[in-house]
Amino acid sequence: MAEKEWKHQLTEILDKLSKLEEKYSGLGQDMMSYLEGLYYSNGLTYWDYIHLDSLLGLQNPRTPFPDEVIFITYHQITELMFKLVKLELDALTADKGENSEYLVAGNWIKRVKRMNNYFRHLSSSFDIMVTGMDKDELRKFRMALLPASGFQSVQFRHIELMSTTLSNLFQEGTEDDESASLEEMYQQIYWKKGGIDLETGKKTITLEAFEEMYDESLLRFITKYQSRNLAYLFHLASQEIKESEEIRQLLRDFDQYVNVYWKLSHLAAASRHLIYGENKVEGTGGTNWRQFLPPKHQKVIFFPSLWSEEEKADWGKAAVLQHFQQAVAKEWMKAGKTE
Ligand code: HEM
Repeated sequence: MAEKEWKHQLTEILDKLSKLEEKYSGLGQDMMSYLEGLYYSNGLTYWDYIHLDSLLGLQNPRTPFPDEVIFITYHQITELMFKLVKLELDALTADKGENSEYLVAGNWIKRVKRMNNYFRHLSSSFDIMVTGMDKDELRKFRMALLPASGFQSVQFRHIELMSTTLSNLFQEGTEDDESASLEEMYQQIYWKKGGIDLETGKKTITLEAFEEMYDESLLRFITKYQSRNLAYLFHLASQEIKESEEIRQLLRDFDQYVNVYWKLSHLAAASRHLIYGENKVEGTGGTNWRQFLPPKHQKVIFFPSLWSEEEKADWGKAAVLQHFQQAVAKEWMKAGKTE
């Protein structure tokens, strides 16, 4: 090594050592002991770093049908993606006074783009649940999963509550009562109503189990996010942010990804697996899913102020039409037609 290069490296090493010394003395620790530990340490491996063995040990089928592993794994992949979406929502909505991220336009752009990316992947990969599993196998193994349902995904509910104000999650037709307590408002959420058997008027056991597990923590969650959710903070943000076409479009995309595209992809899975010929069966959560799941019935819109009255009235319809047109175009191509 040339002397010049060697001297440069030595300066760098000394600089790093002095920074380490500063760090450990600040913690009241002895840097030399840490350096000795470094000398003896084995170094990190990929499998330890990502906890590969634990991760691969988390898929435990309830039945002998091989495709149940696909079903479990894809649910777990989705929950991990939900976690990533929540990290972005958390960062953008965190209350850090004048350092809060929502005050800066660039943060909206960066974080909402990331969330859209996650939901775009989730929506397109849902095909794994539609055509990627054997229909007969699923029909059998799903019976061993009763009454568990993705309906009980608390992370999906977190995403909704972090994204918008409670009243935007009300079932259509619910009067906005300003004197209602948060707890009373919580009961008006669309999925609380969706978990009620229309014939008996009783809650499904899937909803009851969910409430027992999560109601308390969700009420605390709502108390925090009611005045800290994305829609609320967008309303509080500067004119520059509120009038930015880029941010408005990104938020509209997010609304569509979660409340239309992902839900339609999910509905396609339910339609494929819960309709056998003329027979339409219940979901494992016992809802009247054909009424409950379609986006145009739920009309959940996180950012109503970003949509025209016409767009809100037609919520979900344009996407269905687009999907239908694509399917027709595919058939035409197959038949060798060019127009
Ligand atoms: C073959 C695959 C699937 C079928 C047949 C299916 C079926 C259903 C049905 C019927 C419901 C309504 C509640 C009920 O009666 O159970 C539901 C709700 C739900 N499922 Fe799935 N599901 C599938 C995959 C997934 C996956 C992979 C996830 C990811 C976590 C998921 C998450 C949800 C959520 C969040 C709800 C509530 C939706 C809402 O409130 O709008 N599902 N599912």
